[in-house]
Amino acid sequence: MFGFNITWILASAISIILIFVCRNVSKIYDYWLIRGVPYAKPVWGFGNLSFIMRKSAWEFFDDLRRKHPLDYVGIYLGWQPALVVQSPELARRILVKDFKNFQDRYLYSNSSDPLGSLNLFTVKNPIWSEMRHHVAPSFTTAKLRTITELMNLNATELVQKIQRDYIDKKQPVNLKELFTMYTSDTVGYTVFGLRVSVLSGSDSPLWVITSHIVRWTFWRGLEFTMIFFMPVIAKIFKFKFFSGPATEYVKQLFWNVVKERENSKTTEHKDLVQLLLKMKETMKLPAEAGSQLADDLMLAQAAVFILGSVETSSGTLSSCLHELAHHPEEQEKLYKEVSDALTRSGKEVLEYDDLMELEYLSACLYETMRKHPAVPYLDRICAKAYDLEGVRIEEGVPVLVNVVALHHDPRYHPNPELWDPSRPTAASENDNLGYTFLPFGEGPRFCIGKRYGMMQMRAALAQLIHKYRVEPGPVPYIVQPDPYSVLLAPKNGGCVKFVRRHKAN
Ligand code: HEM
Repeated sequence: MFGFNITWILASAISIILIFVCRNVSKIYDYWLIRGVPYAKPVWGFGNLSFIMRKSAWEFFDDLRRKHPLDYVGIYLGWQPALVVQSPELARRILVKDFKNFQDRYLYSNSSDPLGSLNLFTVKNPIWSEMRHHVAPSFTTAKLRTITELMNLNATELVQKIQRDYIDKKQPVNLKELFTMYTSDTVGYTVFGLRVSVLSGSDSPLWVITSHIVRWTFWRGLEFTMIFFMPVIAKIFKFKFFSGPATEYVKQLFWNVVKERENSKTTEHKDLVQLLLKMKETMKLPAEAGSQLADDLMLAQAAVFILGSVETSSGTLSSCLHELAHHPEEQEKLYKEVSDALTRSGKEVLEYDDLMELEYLSACLYETMRKHPAVPYLDRICAKAYDLEGVRIEEGVPVLVNVVALHHDPRYHPNPELWDPSRPTAASENDNLGYTFLPFGEGPRFCIGKRYGMMQMRAALAQLIHKYRVEPGPVPYIVQPDPYSVLLAPKNGGCVKFVRRHKAN
């Protein structure tokens, strides 16, 4: 009798709590309705995130703009209301004009993940502005010129690897992996001053790191997605921005390089480690912060430079080769531009200034980034209540700029699904075509590695297209994005067929 009463009381209490939670969570989903903002219908408990691990974030933003072709649309990241902005004018206001209200990103790792929460991409103010100021000189034109020489050496090794492995040995090409190797060899020098070459088959500590950083298994994808879209959950479960092994390898390599520098007392290096060591001496941190914070900040910047330079460029280069393989006329035009430039210059390999002058080559890359932007949306959080065209955005509400929507809007880019490098493209890396072209973001938080990323892609593409003709591989033209990756990456890596153009390479 007594047992029955306890069970009955417990069951009633649980039911009451459940009803209370359900009613209150349901009320949360009235947020945009009450404010008269058009919104995407949420699923109870998930909000609009029920796509996670089934579809990529890229496809989510693409679906959103197709179903809601409006200037702005409300969504729910779990139970958190967020506003998605899809017009150039609203993007300008959030990213540039009223940046003071939107200085930080919504995504967040947690304090138990210093590499994940203190890097330039994730770190909040006031540390962000201090950090940005210190690492901004990473890619001055002078430094970029030097790095381009190394990019060219690596691009030559890339060309040789294609002959050795994919033509002679007839192994299937995994474009994403191939370009991850190329970018990984370059970033070894940029960050640590190390000359490494996984492309030529030698052991590379950088490859150990990068191959872990961008390995998007189900669980890694879930951790990363939660950090971007549901930081509260990431905090509770202590999810990490970089995988455990990647974190350990970055730490080991970073401190080994620092120790070597201290022992040899050399300061003439031009890499990121040297810049960070200088930053440590001059950085203004909160008085209560210990030296651990300074160390964590250095390490976090090294890690995010590795991720930033590898993942986006390798994905974009994969998409670009895929499009060229399916557009033979455009490919021949590009080949001619590169070939003519080589003849004119009398050089074996085009250098920094030559590469900068290749307009059609830049246009192929820009058009690839328009159609397939590696970063599908730009993330900001509202720091102070703000009125956007009559919509009151409250403090703490995320505002996401839908880059896929802007890049695929036929009003700004007619026939947007067509890959056409002859359409008006950005005239320079700083041209956002009236906020309709934002592959590197915009405003004070724009991509710090934009010029480096472009140069790294130019160097590889120029050499590849001069040596090989690319033809479609055994994959359909419409490539499925990897559902586990927040950034755009081709599922299974992407594939083309390389055919040698000249007898002697
Ligand atoms: C194709 C190449 C690249 C693309 C498409 C790309 C794209 C982007 C985008 C869209 C953002 C967000 C900007 C915003 O929110 O307004 C960003 C930020 C960032 N990127 Fe890149 N990126 C590329 C290459 C690189 C490289 C090579 C590095 C490092 C060497 C890098 C490091 C970063 C960092 C640290 C941030 C955060 C900046 C901040 O918040 O202050 N990226 N990138």
